[in-house]
Amino acid sequence: MTLESDIKIESVLQEDRIFPPSTEVTEKARIKGFHEYKKMVDYANSNPDDFWGNSAKEELHWFEPFNKVLDWSDPPFAKWFVGGKTNISYNCLDRHLQNGNGDKQAIIWEGETGEIRRFTYKELHSEVCKTANALKELGIKKGDLVALYMPMVPEAAISMLACSRIGAPHSVVFGGFSAEALRDRLVDGEAKAVITADGGFRKDKIISLKPAVDDALSNNSCPTVQKVLVVRRTNENIEMQPGRDIWWHDLIPSQSTECPALPIDSEDRLFVLYTSGSTGKPKGVVHTTAGYNLWAHLTFKWIFDIRSEDIYWCTADVGWITGHSYIVYGPLSNGSTTLMYEGVPRPSNPGAFWDVIQKHSVSIFYTAPTAIRAFMKTGRELPDKYDLSSLRLIGTVGEPINPEAWMWYRDVIGGKNCPVVDTWWQTETGGVMISPLPGVTSTKPGSATFPLPGIQADVVDSEGISVRDNEGGYLVIRKPWPGMMRTVHGDSNRFRESYWEFIKPKDGSLIYFAGDGARRDSQGYFWVMGRVDDVINVSGHRLGTMEIESALVSHQSVSEAAVVGRPDDLKGEAIVAFVTLENGVESSDLLLTTLVNHVKAEIGVIAKPDKIIFTDALPKTRSGKIMRRLLRSLASGKEVSGDTSTLEDVSVLDKLRN
Ligand code: PRX
Repeated sequence: MTLESDIKIESVLQEDRIFPPSTEVTEKARIKGFHEYKKMVDYANSNPDDFWGNSAKEELHWFEPFNKVLDWSDPPFAKWFVGGKTNISYNCLDRHLQNGNGDKQAIIWEGETGEIRRFTYKELHSEVCKTANALKELGIKKGDLVALYMPMVPEAAISMLACSRIGAPHSVVFGGFSAEALRDRLVDGEAKAVITADGGFRKDKIISLKPAVDDALSNNSCPTVQKVLVVRRTNENIEMQPGRDIWWHDLIPSQSTECPALPIDSEDRLFVLYTSGSTGKPKGVVHTTAGYNLWAHLTFKWIFDIRSEDIYWCTADVGWITGHSYIVYGPLSNGSTTLMYEGVPRPSNPGAFWDVIQKHSVSIFYTAPTAIRAFMKTGRELPDKYDLSSLRLIGTVGEPINPEAWMWYRDVIGGKNCPVVDTWWQTETGGVMISPLPGVTSTKPGSATFPLPGIQADVVDSEGISVRDNEGGYLVIRKPWPGMMRTVHGDSNRFRESYWEFIKPKDGSLIYFAGDGARRDSQGYFWVMGRVDDVINVSGHRLGTMEIESALVSHQSVSEAAVVGRPDDLKGEAIVAFVTLENGVESSDLLLTTLVNHVKAEIGVIAKPDKIIFTDALPKTRSGKIMRRLLRSLASGKEVSGDTSTLEDVSVLDKLRN
């Protein structure tokens, strides 16, 4: 991880508004009031083995009990619930059938084109069993990695649960990633099969998916991939390669609706999900079965204070961790009704979100600050046209939420009487780490408030010493927790170095740090300030600046590139690229478009630079390191401050300024 300077709080936010939970919310809540939360926190801290062990016994089904709660003998490589055997697909399906909830709605799905499909727990169980049997027929065995490259259709969730049912880890690749990005992930994960669709609908257009899979697999570039299972969604003409490609509708319907869930070792891999880091290619974050299941289950139950009658909707895509934990596994493990929506607000239906809430009487709504800011900009007239009175709780995830957006969300969408939960977490943490609890926490706009029970979060300096109240520092977790990532796929050194060795306490202890800066106020509230490494957050999508730089540099015209994030009212951050060209190449509008398209092809549309600035040279230190801090200031139109004495050539800065 590269950090150029210590964290500085750029604007010390003075936020005095505070919203205590209403008596009604507290009375009905599972965790009632601060004293109950505090009791849980104290218990978890003083007796973690009992806290986690009892939770695991109470909340999950075990084929075989575990004999040790946590093995931390080889840190940072944790083993949770050692010796136990469970199955997340069983926990999400079978046990609800046995508890008499087979006829309860498990998934309500609405497509962008308006069709609605519903699955009871019984129906979902049958579909998952059929798909699991089909995967077995295709030769998939326990331990084989299956990649998913799918639109937001029920078959995506069904496939995830089918994989976990037979112990085949899945690796979901967001459908907005390009063929190149897909290929990297297939190769790195050594995927045995890909589940995809002909295409998907997005913002009134059709996105091709199967052609991108063909492209990724071309020239035998992913030799491990033997089979491609294809869902029909958009009805486009696509090519099917005999022997390799099979239509979902040709294979699944005839399968048996029974497929016993395989007892899976607690520490067997459940999934690998690729995410961006400071350096190199995206890394495969590995999550294992029992610990992840418990953490997704518990956090979902606590934070959304879920009740049997709730219709819960998270607007994420299953391609991201939020979709894994809070569309599929958390809700289904709790036997809740989870709504999946294929669409997003779009020209033909700008009020799509509010329409869905009204139509399905959604009671819990979980979305990203970017979406809220976009609606804020167009005004309350639009949401005011819809009946949103079914809502009882609203949440946000993915990026810092500014207090204005928080207030707007609370007032306009929540009608001033829904608790707002701003949840901080990461792909690596498996589930939420810092969040208000509806019956407990007095919320402050813009603060994720307090760590959940069992999570020892802190704000520290580079030696791991807690900083004073209101001083900026690194957001860290001091103790292992069940949902923590176990390693980086194929690179345990990278896991150790990037997450556990960045903060260096004098006593040699290990502390988890994954890149965010934060401060804690005098009342103990956490205020997450965003990434302090070379990761940027664009509309809640996490991207490594180096990934975008490598994409740019891979173009023949580009000599060097430096990418930085610039604050953006709507997207949180926008991507600005400073590019120097090869000798003899002239900058032009055409080249600009070419480079933007090149990045789209290398990574995907989400990585498209908002601005490319051609320059003769980049500001570098005498040792040749690009001074991104200066570029960040320039990109955001700020005066360059701080030390510039290490610059090799100060005139570069003047030229860039002009
Ligand atoms: O910078 C933090 C930001 O999103 C990063 C994690 O991104 P990803 O792994 O893609 O997971 C996103 C969904 C959990 C974090 O390092 N982030 C996430 N939630 C918040 C946040 N920043 C501030 N407040 C949040 N609530």
